[in-house]
Amino acid sequence: MYRAAILTISDKGHAGEREDRSGEAIREILLTKGYTVAHYAILPDERERIAAELARLADQDVAELILTTGGTGFSPRDVTPEATTAVCERLCPGIPEAMRAMSMEKTRRAMLSRAVAGLRGGSLLINLPGSPKAVRECLECVIDEVAHGLDILRGNAAECGSGQARIQS
Ligand code: MTE
Repeated sequence: MYRAAILTISDKGHAGEREDRSGEAIREILLTKGYTVAHYAILPDERERIAAELARLADQDVAELILTTGGTGFSPRDVTPEATTAVCERLCPGIPEAMRAMSMEKTRRAMLSRAVAGLRGGSLLINLPGSPKAVRECLECVIDEVAHGLDILRGNAAECGSGQARIQS
C-alpha cells in the first residue's frame, strides 16, 4: 500500500499551545485504509516554510500522499493553499471540488474553504480544513478514489473505467 505524510499547519499547534486532534484524525483514517504514515510534522502558518516542506517531501519521495490540515480559510495567516499551489506542477481541482460539494450539505460555510490539491513528481498533495470534524468528513469523502489516482500516478493502475467504479442508480 501507499505511504502518507501528514502536515498540520497551525501557529498554536507548532508553539505547543494546542493539541493536534486533526492530525490524529487523519492518521486514524489513513491506518484504516491501509496507508503507512511515513512522516508527521506541525508547521506554523508560514508560506515559504510550508512550500519548502511540501516540495522536500515530494522530491525525496517520502510519501505518495501528502496531506495538510489547516490554514485554508480567510484568516490573514491562512496561506496553505498558496504554498501548495506554488509547488504543484499540475493541479487536481476535482478533489477539492468533491470535498466542497459534499461539505456544502453539512455546512454552507464549506464554501469558505480555499483548499487545493495537485501533483508534484510522484506525489499527490491535498489540503484539508483545520477542524477534526471537517478533516474527517473531507478525507473520508475522497480517500477511496485517491487510491485509484495514486495507482495511475505510480503506474499501478488497472484499466480505468472498467465499470467497477460506476455509481449504481
Ligand atoms: N468542511 C466540512 N466538511 N465541515 C466543516 O465543518 N468548515 C468550513 C470549511 N470546510 C467545514 C468544512 C469552515 S467554517 C471554514 S472557515 C473552512 O473550511 C476553512 O477551514 P480552516 O481555516 O480551518 O482550514
